Amino acid sequence: MLSMYNIIDKTKHTERLSIQEVSYLVKGYVDGTIPDYQMSAWLMAVCLNGLSKEETFYLTDCMKRSGEVLSWESVEGITADKHSTGGVGDKTTLIVAPIVASCGVKMPKMSGRGLGHTGGTIDKLESIPNFNVELSHTDFIKTINEVGCAIVSQSGNLTPADKKIYALRDVTATVDSIPLISSSIMSKKLALNSDCIVLDVKCGSGAFMKDIADATTLANLMVDIGKFYNKRCTALITDMNAPLGYNVGNSLEVIEAIETLKGNTRGNLLDLCVELSTEIVSTALNTDYVTVKDKVLDAISSGKALETFSKMIEYQGGNAKIVDDYSIFDVPRYSYEVKSKVSGYIQSIDSQEVGIASLNLGAGRHTKSDSIDYSAGIVFNHQLGDSISIGDTIATLYSSKVTDPSQVEDSLLKAITINAQKPIIKDIVISCIN
Ligand code: URA
Repeated sequence: MLSMYNIIDKTKHTERLSIQEVSYLVKGYVDGTIPDYQMSAWLMAVCLNGLSKEETFYLTDCMKRSGEVLSWESVEGITADKHSTGGVGDKTTLIVAPIVASCGVKMPKMSGRGLGHTGGTIDKLESIPNFNVELSHTDFIKTINEVGCAIVSQSGNLTPADKKIYALRDVTATVDSIPLISSSIMSKKLALNSDCIVLDVKCGSGAFMKDIADATTLANLMVDIGKFYNKRCTALITDMNAPLGYNVGNSLEVIEAIETLKGNTRGNLLDLCVELSTEIVSTALNTDYVTVKDKVLDAISSGKALETFSKMIEYQGGNAKIVDDYSIFDVPRYSYEVKSKVSGYIQSIDSQEVGIASLNLGAGRHTKSDSIDYSAGIVFNHQLGDSISIGDTIATLYSSKVTDPSQVEDSLLKAITINAQKPIIKDIVISCIN
């Protein structure tokens, strides 16, 4: 007879669980017959002893099956999905989705809201007046077919098992386990059910995975899960030792995404978006990297990707004039320029601290029910490796909620390391797993 006590005991002794046992524990936890204290004990055993690859496959599949699995039968063409393991200033979805769509791959994207120091794509999009992130199924499919991409908030019926288990992991110090992270992310990707999945696994101070070895293990496991379930799946391991791009905060990030689609930005954000888009299109269409990269660059320089973004805004009810008129966004009431107190080269920018500073300006939520100040955030004038002199403006802080944005000045300055030596700047993409 199956029993949760035996399952916990087996994982405690690194004995392998059968598919029946994994299915029993996922179903039992979702329907409430397995209590939190037993699930917590099992999760901690997994954190300490890990799971085999097969057990991780079973867990992913059982979590996927706990809710709805989407179907893209009525979408014409190949569908692709991307996932980022979370970063500060990460507005890549806003840029990559229209680029990929302009290159002939459909992107039905479901994204989340931000909590704590990382922002969420949905909050960013909601800074565009009237943008609707809750399209009906019919409008979602129509937008994907006619525009090529649509970005909506995650449907409530997907992977309820992951939702419940993740909430428990969050309060039992069991988040940072590679098999648990892999099965959590991949169960959602498999339930979304696109033909192709490209994962952006962040590595560095602002990421779950602090070093390359752990990021590589996580990426390999997720790619193996994707392939096992017949998806075209690859991963890029990317650097997260500084925020992506120059802007952090909701409308500020949409503006930077638009500027990138206009071809007006340079640096780590543009590099990452070009690499991710190329990886998605070449994986989805099974075409060589060099040909696809030219197509991706052309989608930006020809204005096709910007046009697709603007059309997506229109189809999702937003004011598409925003791409040419940023005054349509909420305008921040207060601003403050942060000046450098030293001269030298920017060595590092702690993205977690930057995320917290932005949160404290009102750009994020401390709890799920907090409201967001869409105008709040930080605009950096510099990136890693830039030289800076005493008195130069390093960043500008914006808020409509916090009347004195200088309150976060000290924490922001502490997040930025400046010293005399010019640092060697690494490429944003560290490696590719396929
Ligand atoms: N993101 C997820 O969706 N799940 C995890 O476990 C960690 C990050």
